[in-house]
Amino acid sequence: MSLNELNKIARKMVKKGKGVLAADESAPTCKKRFDSINVESTDLSRNKYRDMLFTTPDMEKFISGVILFEETLGQSTIKENISFPDYLTSLDVIPGIKVDKGAHALANNENEKVTEGLDGLGLRLAEYFKLGARFAKWRAVINIGDSLPSSTCISVNTHGLARYAALCQENGLVPIVEPEIIMDGNHTIEDSFHVTEKVLHATFHELCSQNVQLEGMILKPNMVLSGYECNKQASVDEVADMTVTVLKRCVPSAVPGIAFLSGGQSDEDATAHLNKMNQILGENSPWNLTYSYGRALQAPALKAWGGSDENISTAQEAFSKRARLNSLATKGEYDSSME
Ligand code: 13P
Repeated sequence: MSLNELNKIARKMVKKGKGVLAADESAPTCKKRFDSINVESTDLSRNKYRDMLFTTPDMEKFISGVILFEETLGQSTIKENISFPDYLTSLDVIPGIKVDKGAHALANNENEKVTEGLDGLGLRLAEYFKLGARFAKWRAVINIGDSLPSSTCISVNTHGLARYAALCQENGLVPIVEPEIIMDGNHTIEDSFHVTEKVLHATFHELCSQNVQLEGMILKPNMVLSGYECNKQASVDEVADMTVTVLKRCVPSAVPGIAFLSGGQSDEDATAHLNKMNQILGENSPWNLTYSYGRALQAPALKAWGGSDENISTAQEAFSKRARLNSLATKGEYDSSME
């Protein structure tokens, strides 16, 4: 696929007013989410849950693409038995796929992780393309701690992200590059800022070294937040200001879009932060700033669903509300009174 075509897909993913639904929870993560609502996680219950989300009326007004887990790529809608990639494509929603094999202990570096899944990745990507996927996701995990992250952790993870991204482009998929700094811990927002800056610089250095075409990718970063256990929690204005500053320092304007992860923020915070950043950047922003949220789009819907078919429309309304408010936030038109 040409760079022009990859760029077209990337721009469509981050089009103003739209964002990406991250519904790519692995089976163990899905079990954790389902445990919280006392629902057994089976292939059928996961299929039903994803069906509830994807068949939400008018989802395509606010959702440009959906990140699927490999299992979901092979599942189908409940009523009409249409494969999820075909169903999403029929709505003009782009199907994507999580392709990493998770974050595993980094040898000789206590408490740090490296994301695995590069072996045989090219062949898998070719298969995913045939099944209808047009973009992919790879998440690297970086923790902040006493002397963390180590330079080793940053180096191996950013190297892996770039290898994945190059392979995606070679196989016609737009890579979502996700270097996630985890916000658990008592670190300050300044700590988050410094680590995010370091990691994003390293990420773009690796991407350029490995000939990744920036016009044909999406960055999925964390926002710069106070650690969740930090005594002093930054305001919405501070978070937006510091996140925009770090992005301006590190992300070339050739990148078409930035789609944030929510990372455990409350639904309202994730929307308010995105909104404020879009207000700060305004019309002349070098990139479109949008959402690629998992929990911050799904949490109220998951709770309302509770595993029961009777609750499907209430759950869909809850999902639709978060999608609509985040859509407004991509234009800086959200206000907390709309909650
Ligand atoms: P959260 O928005 O729940 O952090 O999930 C986004 C995601 O895709 C993590 O990889």
